[in-house]
Amino acid sequence: MKKVQDHYYKKAKKENYPARSVFKLEEAHKRFVIFSRGDTVLDLGCHPGSWSIYAAKMVGTSGKVIGIDLQKSQKYSFAGAAKIELVCGDIYDDALFANLSGEEFNVVLSDMAPKTTGHKFSDHLKSLELSRRALEIARNVLPKGGNFYCKVFQGEDFPDYVVEVKTVFKKVKVVKPKSSRVESREVFVLGRDRK
Ligand SMILES: C[S@@+](CC[C@H](N)C(=O)[O-])C[C@H]1O[C@@H](n2cnc3c(N)ncnc32)[C@H](O)[C@@H]1O
Repeated sequence: MKKVQDHYYKKAKKENYPARSVFKLEEAHKRFVIFSRGDTVLDLGCHPGSWSIYAAKMVGTSGKVIGIDLQKSQKYSFAGAAKIELVCGDIYDDALFANLSGEEFNVVLSDMAPKTTGHKFSDHLKSLELSRRALEIARNVLPKGGNFYCKVFQGEDFPDYVVEVKTVFKKVKVVKPKSSRVESREVFVLGRDRK
């Protein structure tokens, strides 16, 4: 386990990403194509910023990334990448989304994680609550054809969540990237092509 962690941690450092979690998004994008050039991306739970940076590179200068997190992230900008706008706030705050109502999004990402307690079932339920909120936001902001990629801690109610995602997207896959530790209960639900 340690070896895998070290490999992705070092690779993230080398490629100038603030967190190794970037590879959980990169792998899914390389396999299934989540972004297109010019897309506008909403990244829920974006701190410290790896997913936002990766998305900004994939959508290019004609695209845009808006990241939201409870924690304030450092500002990043890269040549050839989209502008990243960071919002410090809680995804349960409706006022935050009222301010974004003029935006047209193509992709919603969520790598949100609750503060874990070590109690598997309650951590699973807290994670599902965040994932359901992310799905609700995706349903509200994505037009037909939009894509969604969301972390969930697996558990008893996980199959129900996949069914819920299937009501919104035409193609749904459960992804366990290689960079996600085998012993971790996290998986990612990919919804492509919003109905
Ligand atoms: C695993 S980190 C995200 C890492 C990020 N994707 C990256 O690659 O750098 C999970 C984030 O979810 C955020 N989060 C959890 N609950 C949230 C909420 N209610 N509103 C906004 N952000 C939340 C946490 O503050 C934390 O920074």
